[in-house]
Amino acid sequence: MSNVKIPILDLTRQYQAIKGEIDRAIQRVVESGRFILGPEVEAFEQEIAAYLGAKHAIGVASGTDALYLALKALGIGPGDGVIVPSFTFFATAGVVVNVGATPIFCDIDPKTFNIDPEGLKELVTRYASRVTIKAVIPVHLYGQPADMDEIMALAEEYDLYVIEDAAQAIGAEYRGRKIGTIGHLGCLSFFPTKNLGAYGDGGLVVTNHGELAEKVRMLRVHGSKPKYYHHMVGTNSRLDALQAAILRAKLPHLKEWTTARQRIAERYDELLADIPGIERPYRAPDRSHIFHQYTIRVLNGKRDALQNFLREKGIATQVYYPLPLHLQPCFRDLGYKEGDLPESERASRQALSLPMFPELTEEEQNHVVKAIKSFFQE
Ligand SMILES: Cc1ncc(COP(=O)(O)O)c(C=O)c1O
Repeated sequence: MSNVKIPILDLTRQYQAIKGEIDRAIQRVVESGRFILGPEVEAFEQEIAAYLGAKHAIGVASGTDALYLALKALGIGPGDGVIVPSFTFFATAGVVVNVGATPIFCDIDPKTFNIDPEGLKELVTRYASRVTIKAVIPVHLYGQPADMDEIMALAEEYDLYVIEDAAQAIGAEYRGRKIGTIGHLGCLSFFPTKNLGAYGDGGLVVTNHGELAEKVRMLRVHGSKPKYYHHMVGTNSRLDALQAAILRAKLPHLKEWTTARQRIAERYDELLADIPGIERPYRAPDRSHIFHQYTIRVLNGKRDALQNFLREKGIATQVYYPLPLHLQPCFRDLGYKEGDLPESERASRQALSLPMFPELTEEEQNHVVKAIKSFFQE
């Protein structure tokens, strides 16, 4: 394999494997002439609610919108604070600003990369006199559930809402429950690269609370019910029928794809065991990791050099995420500075995600591992 190219993810292989099912689903929608919401979206909402074990599932236009509408449904806005981890995709905090509230950044547990419950408790008490903290958005980063028991207990004690950002973690379980269904609301993304990906943007809000579900349902159609009678100011954020049909075709395969990812992760764990310059992903107890990403830590400041070395060998990797959110230029006014959240900052210097998708072959994986080993031998 001298001229190999190993992508971090290859969506064309998945399409080829289930081409007939996908093509039929698309054809069905095109022939139906119904493209926005409608029976295809309703059927998908029922199927995914059953899969997740949630009472209500509402299809929306993206994972970002799912978070935005969840905040809106809870009535969170100007004057409110929302605690989010600093080490996550931008949307988790961006939506807080977009509803007029203030993000309060929490550091992560260095073992899991997820929000640190101790840090969360400290923030809730520290900020209590300055701002009304209304909610926390734990993110199940890379596909591993956050410490939901500790988070829910704190939320109960301090009267906070919990919105799970499950964009990266569909199907992961925490003490036997699918994530997204533990907090007051859960938000999923069907961005094409996600474990269950659409062929465009898409997202979902899940909840067991009927009243919140009803609000999200209205908010995605400009707050109206029935049409042209507006109870709230919402927006246009609907899952379209083509995406719903594609997701319906894919959902029955999700379990086997997740198992394949977990098998690949275990193999990486074994093959990367004896390399002193890296740390393999930690598996927290009582939960399953669905390995949206297989993310290692590269120690001693060598992350970027390793990434460049692998790139030269045709191996794609990604840094999720190179700059923690508390240090993003757009949040400068919030007054954070370097050193404030050391674990988020360290993770952003060390994290490196390796090729990971269900169709990755053992040969390709061997090649990735061989290249990593040769980097550390040089
Ligand atoms: C943790 C996290 N939150 C939110 C989102 C936003 O989802 P979307 O891209 O569907 O808007 C993503 C994905 O991109 C994500 O990874």
